[in-house]
Amino acid sequence: MKKLMSANWKMYKTRDEAVNTMKALSEALATLPDDREVALFAPYTALGSLADALGQTKNIQLGAENMYPAKEGAFTGEISPAMIRDCACRFVLIGHSERRSVLGETDEFIAKKVPFALENGLDVVLCIGETLEERESGRLEEVLERQLSSALAAVDSSVEAERLSIAYEPVWAIGTGKVAGLEDILATHLLVRNMLKKIFPEKADKMRILYGGSVKPDNAQAIVALDNVDGVLVGGASLEAGSFSKIVLA
Ligand code: PGA
Repeated sequence: MKKLMSANWKMYKTRDEAVNTMKALSEALATLPDDREVALFAPYTALGSLADALGQTKNIQLGAENMYPAKEGAFTGEISPAMIRDCACRFVLIGHSERRSVLGETDEFIAKKVPFALENGLDVVLCIGETLEERESGRLEEVLERQLSSALAAVDSSVEAERLSIAYEPVWAIGTGKVAGLEDILATHLLVRNMLKKIFPEKADKMRILYGGSVKPDNAQAIVALDNVDGVLVGGASLEAGSFSKIVLA
């Protein structure tokens, strides 16, 4: 299984900034090890320009940071899977904690998006994670179980394992500089793997579980080396080609 090293650019970068960063990244990653894949999750406004420039780059795949679960229609401000695929995207990120907490996305809404994305040709990275309060009150397992089982309930069990990845991102570690301890990451990724085995007994072992939350060039290697860590989702440290390429190659 290749590790999926992914960048989440959130609400950063104009089109030129995005294209320049992607080109610099491609140069830095010209010789990518066989066991790595690179995905850039970029703002919608940059995706068309990134798609146009993709031919001049190597080893980069594109993704959108969100989508709406309908083919088309009167959904002002929303974007469909076909529009995302039209921008040469393979991936879509679903259920990021900022969408859950800032934009009010519910488990029910996320549960519609995951199967819809898969059925409409996008590979999904589903984000799950607990708040500090949930972890400290002993509810880690309950929260992850709820997020996973609801989001995956309507996913067809024939889905290819490599088309559906989970990003475990403890909310308290996102953008805070506080990375979860290696022991916590190891234990939680095993927990997530075991939950996936209950849902997809045949293919859970081949699904990728990424870690996200303050991944930086100096901690990436130790995190990526852990059992059941099949890649990373990086916010702040992915904005500069120099630091993100160090993480990809860690
Ligand atoms: P961070 O963000 O690396 O800045 O903590 C990760 C994410 O939100 O995906």
